[in-house]
Amino acid sequence: MSAQLLDGKVMSEALRAEIAVRVAALKEKGVHPGLAVILVGEDPASQIYVRNKGIGCEQVGIHSVTIRMPETTTQEELESQIRALNADESIHGILVQLPLPRHLDEAAALAVIVPEKDVDGFHIQNAGKLLNGLNGVVACTPKGALEMIRRTGVDLTGKEAVVVGRSNIVGKPMAMLLLQQNCTVTMCHSRTADLAAHTRNADVLVAAVGKAKFITADMVKPGAIVIDVGINRLESGKVVGDVDFDSVKEVAGWITPVPGGVGRMTITMLLENTVEAAEKLLVK
Ligand code: GUN
Repeated sequence: MSAQLLDGKVMSEALRAEIAVRVAALKEKGVHPGLAVILVGEDPASQIYVRNKGIGCEQVGIHSVTIRMPETTTQEELESQIRALNADESIHGILVQLPLPRHLDEAAALAVIVPEKDVDGFHIQNAGKLLNGLNGVVACTPKGALEMIRRTGVDLTGKEAVVVGRSNIVGKPMAMLLLQQNCTVTMCHSRTADLAAHTRNADVLVAAVGKAKFITADMVKPGAIVIDVGINRLESGKVVGDVDFDSVKEVAGWITPVPGGVGRMTITMLLENTVEAAEKLLVK
């Protein structure tokens, strides 16, 4: 293996220790940071994510509640639950686990969360702030991915960054963050004509496609920083990323593993966003 491993577990341990100190300082001032997670339905992957979020909260001392709602929940019921949490002073962060069951309107539900408690950074006010270079809540996965990229120590100014995937949750905010770092950013997606021609140019390559082992060694520039956002479960039960780790690690300069890479950092950033939301309340 020639690439250096960007280990999300190691980075997260250090960051979570710092977050725990901030939580303790808040508690001394009488504020106990609280996160509420709403889980609608029985999606198995969502159950695992939500459990890991709870474990993360416990680790740093954040109070967390999971509100489980049945698959048959109506839009009205969901929005009324969100409104109750908006008004609950013991809750500083609200997260609606996605995807929601098909009959529910995700965008409408997310719009009900007060932007100050939107620790996912999905509210259009926070997305708009990122677009405009203003201080808002930044979505956890791209925020965590950027933190990993920064920890390579590479000066990002003028570097070619390629983001594969154009979702509102990852691809678009990731591109904005890399632009803020003075990268020249290219966004690729399922309709991109010659994907490999773009990815081979990338000094920083972020894969958020949702296809197992999609990025192969021949698509990667030697020495590149390769960030794998994918979490794909194979039929064997094994979890792999969007990057073919075994071959790409021989070409890349830095690479994130799956599991133990970006996913772990996503939850760490959620904890950080929750603490930040509680801290901001205190200075108001
Ligand atoms: N589903 C997959 N990733 C996420 C995430 O980061 N936040 C929420 N709320 N749902 C998700």
